[in-house]
Amino acid sequence: MIRLCTITELRQWRSTQKSLLVLVPTMGALHEGHLELMREARRIAGADGRVAASIFVNPLQFGPQEDFSKYPRDIESDAAMCQSAGVDMIFAPDVSEMYPSDHSIMVLDTRLSKTLCGASRPGHFDGVCTVVLKFFNLVQPRTAVFGKKDYQQLAIIKRMVRDLNLSIEIIGCETVREADGLAMSSRNRYLSDEERRQAPAIRQALLETQQCWMKGGRDADVLQGVFMKHITQVAPLHRVDYIACVNRETLEPLNEGCQNGLMAAAVYFGGTRLIDNLEL
Ligand code: PAF
Repeated sequence: MIRLCTITELRQWRSTQKSLLVLVPTMGALHEGHLELMREARRIAGADGRVAASIFVNPLQFGPQEDFSKYPRDIESDAAMCQSAGVDMIFAPDVSEMYPSDHSIMVLDTRLSKTLCGASRPGHFDGVCTVVLKFFNLVQPRTAVFGKKDYQQLAIIKRMVRDLNLSIEIIGCETVREADGLAMSSRNRYLSDEERRQAPAIRQALLETQQCWMKGGRDADVLQGVFMKHITQVAPLHRVDYIACVNRETLEPLNEGCQNGLMAAAVYFGGTRLIDNLEL
């Protein structure tokens, strides 16, 4: 059976690894989307390389009203899934090892986290950056793999790598979806049957905006209106947190040139906040 490592065990394991190392950071509650990240990591690492996955529900990235304590945890099933996807080592530290009670240093983002999800989750991306930098320092991977479903997270991590001069390649992988188009997420399990039935409307509404874009629509208000019209018609239980048309790297409103566009949305169904996006 695959090993679950603490910080000390990880350091021992790392000191014996000479080959290319690829990291997949996760918070566990793994699903097919995570497995695809691990398979991609396996492809990148090749036969001689090693794939490490982290499983750690990071308290620093949850707000006081968020679901840290009820976030799903099932380490045994996660470990079996990692093994099936070709992971060589799982880093699964305790909160107390990662954050001693007197820890005082964090990584702060000052720009990219002020919009989209960051606007309604203050401090969330500082918690993400802090834990991901710790993973990078501990595992010392050559490459790390993240999902594009969390597009803002991917953009912020790329910016952290650039701004802090880290020698790590960041790879973004396509979102894996259920048959009806709903993006896979550990939080989908919180949806009631009716909410689950309506939730694919997020993807459908994003595809409607893509149709509009392909016909030459470039006005952000119009594109956002197309999204709102569709989701309002087909998903009465929805509550939009945001729908935005931004640049993929800067996350600023899409400029005149309309290069590298991204439609990004966060929508509540009941108490469950779902996100999705589409590269235009
Ligand atoms: O995307 C996630 O699951 C988390 O934000 C990450 C990157 C593992 C950091 O805790």
